[in-house]
Amino acid sequence: MLKFKRYLITKLSAIYRCQPGRLWISFSLLVLLLVTLQVVEKLQPLGSCQCELERGLQQTTGHELSSALHSPHLLWEDDSPQGQRKIEPAPTSTEDVSRMHLWTEAFKIQEVTAGEAQQARGVTSQGKTCKPKTDIVFLKVHKSASSTVMNILFRFGEMHNLTFAFPQGGGFQLYYPHHFLAKFVQGFSPLSPRQFNILCHHMRFLQPEVQKVVPSSAVYFSILRNPVQLMESSFVYYKGASAFSRVRSLQEFLSQPWRYYDPASGDRHYARNLMTFDFGFNPDGDVSPERVQLMLKAIEASFDFLLISEYFDESMVLLKEMLCWDLDSVVSFPLNSRDSSTKSPLPDSIVEKLKAWNRLDWEIYTHFNRTFWERLDRLIGRERLRREVRALRQRRAELARACLQGTGSVGPKDIKDSSLRPLQHGGARILGYNLKQGLPRELERTCRRLVTPELQYSSLLYKKQFPPPPPRESPRPAASPAPPHRPEPTRN
Ligand SMILES: *[C@@H]1O[C@H](CO)[C@@H](O)[C@H](O)[C@H]1NC(C)=O
Ligand SMILES: *[C@@H]1O[C@H](CO)[C@@H](O)[C@H](O)[C@H]1NC(C)=O
Repeated sequence: MLKFKRYLITKLSAIYRCQPGRLWISFSLLVLLLVTLQVVEKLQPLGSCQCELERGLQQTTGHELSSALHSPHLLWEDDSPQGQRKIEPAPTSTEDVSRMHLWTEAFKIQEVTAGEAQQARGVTSQGKTCKPKTDIVFLKVHKSASSTVMNILFRFGEMHNLTFAFPQGGGFQLYYPHHFLAKFVQGFSPLSPRQFNILCHHMRFLQPEVQKVVPSSAVYFSILRNPVQLMESSFVYYKGASAFSRVRSLQEFLSQPWRYYDPASGDRHYARNLMTFDFGFNPDGDVSPERVQLMLKAIEASFDFLLISEYFDESMVLLKEMLCWDLDSVVSFPLNSRDSSTKSPLPDSIVEKLKAWNRLDWEIYTHFNRTFWERLDRLIGRERLRREVRALRQRRAELARACLQGTGSVGPKDIKDSSLRPLQHGGARILGYNLKQGLPRELERTCRRLVTPELQYSSLLYKKQFPPPPPRESPRPAASPAPPHRPEPTRN
């Protein structure tokens, strides 16, 4: 030991004599190392934390995510600003919560200033000088106009030859309601990850896995709906779910929800806090202010922006702005909507019960409704927003006149072209469209894209991305190359 010390001293003095600069560099590196260690230690969750929050989050996020949250190396894996912004919180104490808060605040500011800088340079989507975003993660929340958004993403992807992260075998859901795993994606390989442009099929969000299949620069967004209407819609559409199958009405369910709702049943999420569930959290988690804050911060840290389906047109203007797309890319006709025969206004007492029963969803919705409008005001302003919404509606009306027979959507029996007939599910009648006859070819294609239901569109794109192998030595050239995929319920 003494020998070593003497050796070190002579070595150091030698270094000092010859290259004093080097010593300083070593010294600075040592200090840096110590600081880093300190920081990493601070971030390390306490081993024996007994707080509710910790357990809640563990429950909430499933094993994979919680272990990911608890290994700090994951936090530092991607050191790009993008990657850092998407850090998942590792909450253990109120102190951590406030630190988490500071983090997300800091990252938000970074994001805002980037946007503002763009505006200052005049590179908004209006000026067409920004670069359209092509790497996208869309969390397709159930029953929230997400099929319409998916149509927009399908069209954009098709026109720009982008690749989609399809479920294995060309299914329609990424093993929902299981938490998302990268291996669910057709063609994913751990050896060459991050190769898909768009991830938009139904999934239960799990960020560390999602990050494996899309480039780190991907834009993350989703769309929310008022949980009162969402649950009413879910009740009609998933009437067969175990929580709903024994009741005649939503009222009956809400009068004694715990009699019908079993938190252990595999399809319970359709009956409570469906958005919370789709974002990856526990729909039966407690509603303490700390936990709610944490959940909101976690969503904010993962998603660049959230849209609101009650303000669909405003949402499309925001989408166009955030993705730097043009107007035609975000024009759409409502898809997968049901006819009004199964809709009726809800009495106030029911509304209050629905809010209370879906309290976590309510917290998510009201929070992001607020930030939605704040973002619109900050990035676009009410004046331009009004103009852009008007332009969007005009374009939609124009396309409807050019493409559609009659005045709009029709019931499933009245849709003549079966490839345009949407899947029917539950007690709802899902509407679709008839195209005008004899349209010019190019227009016909544009129109057809706008009204193709999601299952059919998904299958078409899947076949484009993974062409079936040509039949070897087929005696009859007309032999069909692959059996058509049997549509499974989208459970949208
Ligand atoms: C997409 O691919 C097709 C066929 O390979 C090609 O003709 C077309 O120009 C491509 N479009 C874009 C936007 O790259
Ligand atoms: C959503 O935000 C709008 C605009 O601020 C507001 O008028 C509306 O009441 C909000 N909705 C809910 C459910 O909070």
